[in-house]
This record gives sequence, structure tokens and C-alpha cells, in this order.
Amino acid sequence: MSDLAFFERDDSLYISCEDLFKIYKIADLEVVALRGLDLKVRRGELMAIVGASGSGKSTLLNILAGLDQPSAGRAYVGGRDLLTMSAGEMVEYRRRSVGFVWQQTGRNLIPYLDALQNVEIPMILAGKAKSFATKRGKELLDAVGLGHRLHHKPNQLSGGEQQRVSIAVALANDPPLLLADEPTGELDSVGAHAVFDLFGELNRQYGVTIIVVTHDPSIAARVDRVVAIRDGRTSTEIFRRVKQDGNRAVVVHDEFVLVDAAGRLQIPREFLEELAIHGRARIALKDRHVEVLPESTREEAIL
Ligand SMILES: Nc1ncnc2c1ncn2[C@@H]1O[C@H](COP(=O)(O)OP(=O)(O)OP(=O)(O)O)[C@@H](O)[C@H]1O
Ligand SMILES: [Mg+2]
Repeated sequence: MSDLAFFERDDSLYISCEDLFKIYKIADLEVVALRGLDLKVRRGELMAIVGASGSGKSTLLNILAGLDQPSAGRAYVGGRDLLTMSAGEMVEYRRRSVGFVWQQTGRNLIPYLDALQNVEIPMILAGKAKSFATKRGKELLDAVGLGHRLHHKPNQLSGGEQQRVSIAVALANDPPLLLADEPTGELDSVGAHAVFDLFGELNRQYGVTIIVVTHDPSIAARVDRVVAIRDGRTSTEIFRRVKQDGNRAVVVHDEFVLVDAAGRLQIPREFLEELAIHGRARIALKDRHVEVLPESTREEAIL
């Protein structure tokens, strides 16, 4: 079944990436930033993406934001095909269908405009009346807890406050999707937690689908799901689940390794090192599990 048919049948799916590749070419050098990445995101989900530096997190987010095009594979957001969109459709998509928050606080806001004017700008660019933009701008700044800072310029706000204004700017045109690339990278832990809590509130209040890239390990407690990216592919996934323990509700995290349609999965590097597996291993189907053994294991030892 094609992805588009899937979207028509299952409207709970909002994002679907399959076997996604992004290759950057600089002169003769090719960098494979995404190598066969699979990712599905539900409508209204609040999820985080983690991974080492250079693993492809920003590349993925830029593609989902319509700022960059993939080299190959499939990428659909809300039923739109990101590989075949025209330049004009891409501009429209960026303007109405997605909000983006950068790590660098300075990149999100116009320095000589105050908080309210910053939130009004995207609405005015989208053709809304000034009176509408002012009313909604105030509502959004209230929603991010900055109703009392409407006329402060960015340099008169703390880093955390600037990021909260940036989130209000990103939501100005009511996009169904909010993407944030390390939005708390320049903040202390108090500011970071305020931003993460705000994502939770906005997700519940407006039903906006949110993907946040972060290095902060405390994120797992604040989102529905954490997906780890390793070497340009999704590798593991952690789900948050509420379990009943007697009459107490406790939050537990279930961790899974992802298996793609071709049956590929990533074995954690620590396991490979521990077992001295390099390039080749033995695999056997056992009673309800699969066994992976170093190549050097003698056959009689396996049987
Ligand atoms: N515009 C570009 N041109 C060439 N190579 C690039 C470009 N952007 C990213 N890359 C390369 O692609 C790979 C993935 O980069 P990406 O920015 O997606 O990583 P990241 O996971 O966001 O890392 P970080 O945590 O450091 O932000 C890296 O090896 C990077 O050097
Ligand atoms: Mg990055």
C-alpha cells in the first residue's frame, strides 16, 4: 500500500519517512547525512529526537520544515509529498503548515521589534489584518506566559523568555506542526524545563504535533516518545507508559530497537565491542528469540 493511501485510511498518521536519504555534496566529497531513515509520527504527538553530534538530526528537521529537500526515499507530512513539492508549494508549506524554532535565540527574532511585533509579522506576511494579528499575538504571548512582556525587545528578555517568544512566533499562523532544533541549547536547566513544559501545554491545548531535537536527557519524562538517531538512521525508541502499581500510577519507559522494512536493525556499539563483532556475525532463530553471535563462535558451540 502506498503512503498516500495509508494517509487516507489512517488519519492518525501525520508524518511518514521511509528509506530517506540526504547526501550533501561539497566539491568531490559526499556526506551521507541520512541513510535510509524511517520515521512515523502520529497527529498530535509530542516527541523528541536525540542522537550524537553529526547523526543527522538537524538534516531531518530541515527536511520536515521544507527548508531542504531529501535526495531519495519517501517523506510525507500531512499527506503532502516533500520530494515532489514545487518551489511555490514549498514556500506556502513553510508559511502555513510548519513552525520552526532554532537553537540560536538570536536567529528566531527580529532584534529591533518588540515581542508582540515579532509575533505579528508572520501573520501580516500571510495577509492577515493588523487588528487580527495584534489580538492573536497577545493571546499567544499570554499562552507562553509572557503577557506582561509584550513591548520588550529581545535584548530586554532572558534567553528562556526569548525562546518562549520564538515559540509564539512559530505558532502565529496556527501550523499543525511545530519543529524545534535544540531550542534549549543556550538555556540553563530552569529555562530549559520551562520551555519543555510549555511544549507539553501547547500540545495539549492546541493539539499541535511537536518534534523537538535535544541533547537534554531529562526530555524522556516530558514527551510521549523519544527516538534516537544514529549514523543517519533511527535506531532506538523509548515510549512513556503509565503503569498501575497497586493503587499508584507509575511512569515507566519501554525501550525498543527499531527494525526497518528490510529487516535491518542496529546493534548498540557497546554490544559489538563487548563481543568483538566486526563486519560479520552468526545469527540463529531460537525459541521465541534471535541470537547473534561473534563470527569466531565455533559451529558445534552453537548447535
Ligand atoms: N549543508 C551541509 N553541507 C555538507 N554537509 C552537511 C551539511 N549539513 C550537515 N552536513 C553533514 O551532515 C551530517 C549530519 O549533520 P546534522 O547537522 O544533521 O547533524 P546533527 O545530528 O544535527 O548534529 P548536532 O547535534 O551537532 O547539531 C554531518 O556529518 C554534517 O557534517
Ligand atoms: Mg543539529
